[in-house]
Amino acid sequence: MTSSIPPDPFPDWFFDRDDPTPDTRFYAPTRLVTHIDDAAIEAVGRLYAELGVDGSAGEPRRVLDLMSSWVSHLRTPPAELVALGLNAAELEANAMATTRVLQDLNVEPDLPFPDASFDAVLCCVSIDYLVHPVEVLAEAARVLRPGAPVVLTFSNRCFPTKAVHGWLATDDAGRGAIVVEYLRRAGGFSEPELSLRTPPGRYRGDPLYAVVARRVPLAG
Ligand SMILES: C[S@@+](CC[C@H](N)C(=O)[O-])C[C@H]1O[C@@H](n2cnc3c(N)ncnc32)[C@H](O)[C@@H]1O
Repeated sequence: MTSSIPPDPFPDWFFDRDDPTPDTRFYAPTRLVTHIDDAAIEAVGRLYAELGVDGSAGEPRRVLDLMSSWVSHLRTPPAELVALGLNAAELEANAMATTRVLQDLNVEPDLPFPDASFDAVLCCVSIDYLVHPVEVLAEAARVLRPGAPVVLTFSNRCFPTKAVHGWLATDDAGRGAIVVEYLRRAGGFSEPELSLRTPPGRYRGDPLYAVVARRVPLAG
């Protein structure tokens, strides 16, 4: 896919948001809803199965779902699923979660997990809300085992008052380039691969894009 090149460094306005109030306030109401259509959700589950990050590979898997809610879109449960998000009732309703962590990543980007302790880090339709995405993704690299993937999926829908202005200012190709660039600047990952996981062209459903990169082996 071709894409525009995000500014380097990101300008000051890039991570501003129309609603700068604490995210805990906006996400306080429990939303047991889906944020993309069924076909896009199916595409996320298919991608996770292809990458072998769910339980279908038959191996023990410890998976971290960042900015999680009541569904993590995995087709089969991994051995352990840590769901990190902002709404306790939504996380409680996540039947696959084995551990639930309430944390505002825009206040505290550091992840409360040991180095190399996960087999995959996922973030579905939420990367657009992060004001410190490079710091959070550097933490994702730290907690991943060498060779393990980070899987960032996004569509063209969002809560616009909570998305960063840089995200809202561009198109799908530009958003793909932004997510790729976040991972490059985070460091610790292989070159990110961007793909469209729903049909191209005049497809009428929600598009589902994925950016996947793997933790590079640790030096030394
Ligand atoms: C559009 S929903 C997506 C939920 C889920 N990942 C999914 O695929 O359905 C955005 C999610 O991001 C979480 N979130 C938003 N801002 C956050 C923040 N600052 N820190 C942690 N989680 C956040 C919210 O709790 C919400 O569940």
